[in-house]
Amino acid sequence: MREYNDLVKLAERAALRAGEYIRGAQRPGVHAWTEKGQHDFATEVDRAAEGLIAEILTRDEPQSLILGEELSPKQALKGELVWVVDPLDGTTNFLHGYPQFSVSIAALVDGKLAAGVVHDICRKRTYAAARGGGAFEEGTRIGVSAVTEPRLALVGTGFPFKALQLLPQFMSQFAAVLGATSGIRRAGSAALDLADVAAGRLDAFWELHLSPWDIAAGTLLIREAGGTITRPDGASDVLSGQQNGAIVAGNAAMQRWLLDLLRTR
Ligand code: IPD
Ligand code: CA
Ligand code: CA
Repeated sequence: MREYNDLVKLAERAALRAGEYIRGAQRPGVHAWTEKGQHDFATEVDRAAEGLIAEILTRDEPQSLILGEELSPKQALKGELVWVVDPLDGTTNFLHGYPQFSVSIAALVDGKLAAGVVHDICRKRTYAAARGGGAFEEGTRIGVSAVTEPRLALVGTGFPFKALQLLPQFMSQFAAVLGATSGIRRAGSAALDLADVAAGRLDAFWELHLSPWDIAAGTLLIREAGGTITRPDGASDVLSGQQNGAIVAGNAAMQRWLLDLLRTR
């Protein structure tokens, strides 16, 4: 049987290599930005980083499949070993030199999350989790926060800028959360937002429109850190793409509270 820890080590190696490449890459000028969709950009740096990651992962695991945002976004999640890869999460931040972007790599074994790694490229910090083995930041165990009162909570979110039809619902939710908590943060890399929940820096998080590569690794980090992450309907299958890939996460108490609040909107 495959050791989940070996998958973590391999994912870490690939994430660190891609991070090193992205840190050293010249920031592409405006003319080199490809608009994949409205407000959705990618550059040669995203594609080359994914190429590097794929090369490292498949060299050691030649039978594995890759669901990667830039090069193989249509790969199904079913398979003995499937990697879910976002080579550069927070591309808009990267393009503007705003220092918050990451590499996110998860491994699914027979459809179940087995390993998750998020590498914070600018701070050079790596978050890692193996199924059943806890969550770690730079080798130190992390856990979700102990805040249980909404008025004390710091909540993260992401705007539905790629799905503006969701904006009225989001704005109503935003107002409700802002009125009930200590504050809301929008930093621009969903993978790092989820790592922040796992490390207890954010007490809860929600976003209405995400893809499996944004959240696969972060989902395992949160669960292994003792937190909860579900779809807005409460189902745990967050990678299915159901409900626009929307997620609600947090420590158990704050996730429950946020789930109930968002449902009223
Ligand atoms: C995006 C980031 C962002 C989230 C977007 C994602 P990308 O990923 O995670 O925080 O709000 O929905 O698409 O496009 O930079 O890889
Ligand atoms: Ca992403
Ligand atoms: Ca990306």
